[in-house]
Amino acid sequence: MRRIEPNKEGLRKNRIVVQNGALSIPSTCLFPLPVVMISSSDKENHVNVCTVSWIGVVSSKPYQIGIGLRKTRLSHQMISKSGEFVINIPTKEMIHIVDYCGLISGEKRNKFKDCKLTVKRGKYVKAPLIKNCPVNYECKVTLIIEAGSHDFIIGKVLASHVNGKVKNGKQICVNKVNPLTLCGNEYWSIGKRIGKVGIHKRIEGEIDV
Ligand SMILES: Cc1cc2nc3c(=O)[nH]c(=O)nc-3n(C[C@H](O)[C@H](O)[C@H](O)COP(=O)(O)O)c2cc1C
Repeated sequence: MRRIEPNKEGLRKNRIVVQNGALSIPSTCLFPLPVVMISSSDKENHVNVCTVSWIGVVSSKPYQIGIGLRKTRLSHQMISKSGEFVINIPTKEMIHIVDYCGLISGEKRNKFKDCKLTVKRGKYVKAPLIKNCPVNYECKVTLIIEAGSHDFIIGKVLASHVNGKVKNGKQICVNKVNPLTLCGNEYWSIGKRIGKVGIHKRIEGEIDV
């Protein structure tokens, strides 16, 4: 696991952007954001979970996903020490659990118990998979970038687990997962499929993301 520290210039406060008379600060102007639950564990096998929206794919080979985590979170401590975490994708029916896990710290409460979450063992990591979530990704930390208020923790995806109920053959049915998104400080569910990537170029294999 490698660590990159910031330069001081990069840590200066952002300026507030004023648009059409409405105030918007950079932390809320990117939307929609995915809403996921990050689970982790420590040496003593304590487990924890927290809600995260600052998340994104950063590489496809190897497949790597980064999460922005504030240093003060218990999850940050557990993940940076254990070097692993699990990304769990909750359904929109889990909105209350998601919100609870995003407001209460594992320093104070056992969120797994409080939310009656069931766990499943992973194949490669000790951090627990949340069975209530239909999709889980086991990740190993490869890089921590000190980005300012938050660290950007990049994890290599070692395994993915998809509940058969949300699958159609090898594909994940998004409408069966019913994921949540975050827009500003509101939770939104997603709407209908309106197209497929490659509307302009219908040649298989030409899209390189
Ligand atoms: C919808 C939502 C999204 C959140 N996204 C993040 C995030 O991306 N990064 C982060 O550090 N905290 C995020 N939080 C806050 C943490 O989930 C919260 O501080 C949590 O209590 C941390 O738990 P822990 O101390 O047990 O790790 C989010 C909270 C909510 C409700």
